[in-house]
Amino acid sequence: MMTKSEAKKRIEKLTKEIEKLRHEYHTLDNPSVTDAVYDSLTRELRSLETEYPDLADPNSPIHRVGGKPLDKFVKVTHAIRMLSLNDAFSKEEVLDWEKRIKKLLPENTAVEYFCELKMDGLAVSLIYENGVLVRGATRGDGFIGEDITQNLKTLQSIPLTLKAPYPEFIEVRGEALMSKNVLEKLNKIQEKEGKQLFANTRNAAAGSLRQLDPKLARERGLDFMAYDIPQVRGVEFKTHSEKHAFLRKLGFVLDTHEKIAKTTEDIFSFISQVEKIRPKYPYGTDGVVVSVDNLTLQERLGVVGKAPRWAVAFKYPAEKATTIVTDITVNVGRTGVLTPLAHFRPTLVAGSTVSKATLHNMDQIERLGIRIGDTVVIQKAGDVIPEVVEVLEKMRTGKEKKFSMPSVCPVCGAKVEQRVAESKKDSSVAYYCTNTTCSAKNRRGMQ
Ligand code: IVH
Repeated sequence: MMTKSEAKKRIEKLTKEIEKLRHEYHTLDNPSVTDAVYDSLTRELRSLETEYPDLADPNSPIHRVGGKPLDKFVKVTHAIRMLSLNDAFSKEEVLDWEKRIKKLLPENTAVEYFCELKMDGLAVSLIYENGVLVRGATRGDGFIGEDITQNLKTLQSIPLTLKAPYPEFIEVRGEALMSKNVLEKLNKIQEKEGKQLFANTRNAAAGSLRQLDPKLARERGLDFMAYDIPQVRGVEFKTHSEKHAFLRKLGFVLDTHEKIAKTTEDIFSFISQVEKIRPKYPYGTDGVVVSVDNLTLQERLGVVGKAPRWAVAFKYPAEKATTIVTDITVNVGRTGVLTPLAHFRPTLVAGSTVSKATLHNMDQIERLGIRIGDTVVIQKAGDVIPEVVEVLEKMRTGKEKKFSMPSVCPVCGAKVEQRVAESKKDSSVAYYCTNTTCSAKNRRGMQ
């Protein structure tokens, strides 16, 4: 038998080890032990926590299993609207923004700016009462979101209880994220199972949090980074940076790349610094958020439409590279539609190796004028799925081959026919396999 103090030590050890193993498994995609070892450690922790409930850590991995699947999500109203940000696509646009706000403030007002990463995930709101997480919701349309508390509770980096001293009420906002590693792993599985690939970490994070069964959300290994406190009782902040410091004290994870900028030059140097680390950064980022640090000034500047005047999102341009089209093949989707896929000589763009991209349909192939053997420009905008933007016709040798859609289905050999495909954006002619029992159509759909 263990003494209580031995049990306490063992619980702490197990909790730490299980958390490390979960991180290795979900985020690093590099487990150091087998599932059986992980399960056995978890079982031991669960039984110790049952035996000594007073020693159980409320943030223990055991409590992160979530409840039963839901029928649907319940709608929730945000007490404070969840805003969007206006974009700036160049330094000039950042300077224009600065000019606009300076004009609205009394002359010679000293303005400091807070710079942080713009995470490419899904905005969520967390409500804590007396230090306990009571509700987690999506942004929705900014006014009304969906209650996804069960799913959010499975995220390791969302504290179920806050570190003391905590306020009796606080709302924390931040971004639910999927790391690039986890997305690559997930897309490999999707591909193997004939399911649609997720275009980027944002879509994958959103899709995972919309799962009605928290078990599925949990398997996706999402992370959370906090960035704002829209409301709190009993604490006063003067600046946005004070909010960040307070969030860290409460036990939240925040990105470490942040800076107070006194001038626009400081803002630009932060933007260049982040540009350098972006390819190696474990999460998708699509820019930098620049806010007026002083909260009184923020209030004065206010909100127009859906976005505050006091902040702007600087967006990096898409990264481009050239490569050679080695082949164009055809995929058959679940609806029977034939989708052309370009294969490339593998090339590095925005931090990962790209070897293929969808060409969507025949219209797109004709628009680009793309042939097998062509040198093309491909781009990736922080997104994981790349696209062909241009053919470099000057690079042609004359040996390039034109592509045409096959007349029979590459999966079952049945006749292929043209039909008008209506999409949300437009209608175009698509090629379909005519066989209703084609095995490509009978694969399981996306979950
Ligand atoms: S501040 C007033 N900070 O960008 C708007 N947003 O805002 C408060 N986002 O869907 C947002 N990283 O989820 C802020 N460090 C960050 C962010 C961030 C990502 C997202 C946010 C929202 C979108 C537009």
